[in-house]
Amino acid sequence: MRHLLSTQDLCFQDALHILDTAEEMAGVKDRQVKKLPALRGRTVVNLFLEDSTRTRISFEAAAKRLSADVLNFSARGSSVSKGESLRDTVQTLEATGADAIVMRHWASGAAHQLAESGWCSSPVVNAGDGTHEHPTQALLDAFSMRHRFAFRDGSDPATAPPVGQDLTGRHVVIVGDILHSRVARSNVWLLNTLGARVTLAGPATLMPLGAESWPCEVTYDLDEALATEPDAVMMLRIQQERMHQSFFPSTAEYTRGWGLTSERLSRLEDTEAIIMHPGPMNRGLEISSTAADSPRNTVLEQVANGVSIRMAVLYLILAAENPGKDG
Ligand code: CP
Repeated sequence: MRHLLSTQDLCFQDALHILDTAEEMAGVKDRQVKKLPALRGRTVVNLFLEDSTRTRISFEAAAKRLSADVLNFSARGSSVSKGESLRDTVQTLEATGADAIVMRHWASGAAHQLAESGWCSSPVVNAGDGTHEHPTQALLDAFSMRHRFAFRDGSDPATAPPVGQDLTGRHVVIVGDILHSRVARSNVWLLNTLGARVTLAGPATLMPLGAESWPCEVTYDLDEALATEPDAVMMLRIQQERMHQSFFPSTAEYTRGWGLTSERLSRLEDTEAIIMHPGPMNRGLEISSTAADSPRNTVLEQVANGVSIRMAVLYLILAAENPGKDG
């Protein structure tokens, strides 16, 4: 694996290999010294041109647990505000010794542009590009599902990691603002590759044109989707910062039709469905506090598992498959 740009680029074996490598990485946090020497002497640049809490911190923690040096770059306070281009910014960072670029960008396709333009020689990891893709989020979601499903099936992932397991036969309902969601897109491709059935549920105004041709089902009725007793319900954040027109009459109306309210949560009581959210959550809008704080909710497990997944990705890109200029 040279870059990680999209889950569409991952075949079944690649995806499983990342998940299984992350199982090994997960053990590092339980050691007295929470570090592996695998990336000693390497430098990972976190180039974040759009805001982030989880992804940026998680990539930093992952790189440090692998003993890499980390340079954190954010647009605010940098020469990007003086008009410096992405090409010049990246070349400046490479000149300081970057070995890998982890990039979040507001523009869809920015990670592909960087990887394929020849502007830099480093591997590129897409940490979210516009409304396009967020591959490590989908990978950590799949990892979190594997763990919860293993536990539900009677084995403890802490002692028996679900290595080699895919998501065949599982049904995942992804709910809400599909139109603006890179998380939804990356999940549709990856879940499909891993054998899961996927249903997208959202208002017609927030369903992308052409979604019917994706490898998933589409419904405009959340209650109908929940009645199918899915294994996982993934709530998406309403991305108001990307909305330049009105997509629903009011937030109250959105919650009534599409929110995981306490009443909808109670209807899941007799099922084994887990509730997922990539964060940050809009409590009271797409998810009620009762659902956000429910033991079914995996949001903090997703964050914790994100470090293991990002360790696996950095390791596979920098150490295992691209041993470097001198390796
Ligand atoms: N899930 C996610 O990408 O969160 P951040 O925007 O906080 O990184």
